[in-house]
Amino acid sequence: TTKNVVNIVEVSPRDGLQNEKGVIPVSVKAELVTRLGRAGVQIIEAGSFVSPKWVPQMAGTAEVLSQMERLQNVRYQVLVPNQKGLDAVTALLAEQPVSPPLTDEISIFTAATDAFTRANLNTTTAESLARLAPVARAALDHGLRVRGYVSVVIACPYSGQVDYIRVREVTKALLDMGCYEVSLGDTVGMGTPSQVSEMLDEVKKDVPVEKLAGHFHDTYGTAVANVLTALDHGVRTIDASVGGLGGCPYSPGATGNVATEDVLYALQGSQYHVAGNADGTIDLNKMVDIGWWISEQLGRESVSRVGRAIRSR
Ligand code: HMG
Ligand code: MG
Repeated sequence: TTKNVVNIVEVSPRDGLQNEKGVIPVSVKAELVTRLGRAGVQIIEAGSFVSPKWVPQMAGTAEVLSQMERLQNVRYQVLVPNQKGLDAVTALLAEQPVSPPLTDEISIFTAATDAFTRANLNTTTAESLARLAPVARAALDHGLRVRGYVSVVIACPYSGQVDYIRVREVTKALLDMGCYEVSLGDTVGMGTPSQVSEMLDEVKKDVPVEKLAGHFHDTYGTAVANVLTALDHGVRTIDASVGGLGGCPYSPGATGNVATEDVLYALQGSQYHVAGNADGTIDLNKMVDIGWWISEQLGRESVSRVGRAIRSR
């Protein structure tokens, strides 16, 4: 029987590290990306080109891209908030015209509520979409692929329960400006499977499910269940973070993304096959080791449930 292929977008170098208080050396960030590639991960968000005043931790992304090992069959993405971020990416690509390129894909982002967009991008959602459209256009003209994110698709830390109609509209707007895929973010990590299901039912009214990805933070422990719910709905791309690292600086108290190890484990023996470059998948044991290694670099233990269980057996 043919299995349903699931793609993992490994967001730990960006979402996983952006919220860290201590300065993480570029060499550690670059080694994280390198190790993820060697463990078979095919899509890696390597960092972001955002204002260092807003998110100091991501300041060294150009150096990370220059130092990390780049593999032919891995896609490296970077997150940009505006034209200035895109300009930094294209300048870097012109400065270092290597093959494979340092990055060939950007992600742009907005949110389903004005309050969150204000906190994250210092503007309203409508204005953010108006500003992002020419950025997406310019990126496409440069031959870069463009991915979109919608934050707070279930709950907003500032305005509470989110209107799923708004999620659908913002998702559609990002696709209309040329994003090949839109990742739906439960930024706060409060969503339950039934809420995720209801939200996806609404978004799917106007958006083909092949264009959607799921991005679940695990604050309330529902992230793996939400991943399975999204897969049930036909979503085939899941954002995950090794060691369960992460959190958004503008979502107080939110914890990391669903741990990649936990997703890999939960899908073992299922109708789903996780795509990857290590014998056709992602190597679970290597991911467990990476989760521990990076967590120890940050002075703590891995919070991946599977990572902890495998380490202690
Ligand atoms: P602003 O203050 O309104 O913008 O911030 P500005 O144009 O006035 O710029 C402020 C300063 O930043 C200026 O410097 C700019 O030059 C500089 P100054 O003149 O004061 O010296 N600047 C930049 N520097 C480097 N790269 C840039 C850049 N842009 C401006 N690209 C702005 C607006 C968009 C810049 C700011 O709000 C920002 O950087 N936001 C990014 C916030 C962020 O990174 N959030 C986390 C990522 S999103 C996320 O985690 C959610 C996600 O995981 C999904 C989910 O879980 O929901 C994706
Ligand atoms: Mg996130």
